[in-house]
Amino acid sequence: MAPIRVAVAGSTGSIGGQTLEIISADPDAFDVVGLSTGRSAAVIIEQAKTFRPAIVAVADPTARNEVSEALSGLSEIEVVADATEMCDIADVVINGVVGFAGLPVTMATLSNGRRLGLANKESLIAAGPVVQPLREVDGAELVPVDSEHCALHQCLRSSIDTNREVSRLVLTASGGPFRGRLAAELANVTVDEALRHPTWSMGPKITIDSSTLMNKGLEVIEAHELFGTPFDEIDVVVHPQSVVHSMVEFIDGSTIAQLSMPDMRLPIGYALGWPHRLGTPFGTIDWTQLSQLNFEPPDRSTFKCLDLAYAAGRAGGTAPAVISAANEIAVDAFIDGEITWAQIHDVSAAVLDATELSQPSTVDEVIDADRRAREDARRVISGMLA
Ligand SMILES: NC(=O)c1ccc[n+]([C@@H]2O[C@H](COP(=O)([O-])OP(=O)(O)OC[C@H]3O[C@@H](n4cnc5c(N)ncnc54)[C@H](OP(=O)(O)O)[C@@H]3O)[C@@H](O)[C@H]2O)c1
Repeated sequence: MAPIRVAVAGSTGSIGGQTLEIISADPDAFDVVGLSTGRSAAVIIEQAKTFRPAIVAVADPTARNEVSEALSGLSEIEVVADATEMCDIADVVINGVVGFAGLPVTMATLSNGRRLGLANKESLIAAGPVVQPLREVDGAELVPVDSEHCALHQCLRSSIDTNREVSRLVLTASGGPFRGRLAAELANVTVDEALRHPTWSMGPKITIDSSTLMNKGLEVIEAHELFGTPFDEIDVVVHPQSVVHSMVEFIDGSTIAQLSMPDMRLPIGYALGWPHRLGTPFGTIDWTQLSQLNFEPPDRSTFKCLDLAYAAGRAGGTAPAVISAANEIAVDAFIDGEITWAQIHDVSAAVLDATELSQPSTVDEVIDADRRAREDARRVISGMLA
């Protein structure tokens, strides 16, 4: 079989690095045709020397010059600014860019009729109305990489008529580092504490989002966009071991769940190999060691971001873009020590509350909603600092 041609957007991040680990475990099965980064020149130079892609995209101009110079002896590699240039030469593009910056890759991959392994949930959440029609492009496929949605995707394969047979999607949440603590106890938590995730090792933005449960709220919107399930039929349950990655409940009372040890290489590999399964196992369970699987309801009054995201999802239109953008700015401000952990919610809630929502029909309208929400979030944060 011909190797699968893979482009990795955000190859210098957590998802990107793990994608390259999977490829390294079975190098004959894959051909890396593209890599991209924001600004991590040193890392992508090493990756490019190892995998020899046709295209290396570097968003930051200074980092791009450094990469161009370092790779100037490798004439088969073209260094460019725009990661979308690699989206039409791959069979599958893994989008591991963080935040709204991942939107161009999501759109270009689907527009080119390619398979998109989507880790970058923010692009689908913010731009659902303009991304959805692209899923109809001939050859385009969207395979989720988020472990919960990969689990749901696998569970739904067991149904021959999901529209009629599914009664509920149940997303599991680890609960993050602050599970079991009350709002008053979280007033002074530090960035280091919020970054100490109990089960997953991930990039900083999603790790902070996991500590507030905003990540789970965004995943509820993501599940709605991916599977077309109404919000009233998507539930969240806290499961601290992160072994059950999500579940589908059917109308006859059956529940089908997908289980593995927490290892993102499994869902990334699922998207790389789809519709087949890769032969390299990741996250295999040792049943002699797995003594407990616990479940509990989320504490919605302490972790208010969960219901805030549900509200944005239900409002629809530009609301998911607004909440996602405001949250990105708030998370950065928390990491920079400008606001407290609890204020991450307050910033996003204030911006959503003050925004006049609309129904975007073009990508420019989504970009505009994102830009305005960022400006509003910065204004709210300035007010908090004053
Ligand atoms: N990590 C996980 O286990 C996990 C699990 C589920 C879902 N996800 C989702 O996957 C996505 C990536 O998460 P991550 O944890 O891998 O993040 P990460 O470690 O922070 O990596 C982000 C990647 O995006 C690149 N990037 C950042 N800004 C960019 C820009 N403006 N233009 C182009 N590239 C840019 C970064 O480049 P630099 O190196 O230059 O910063 C880096 O390669 C997020 O949407 C996250 O929610 C992640």
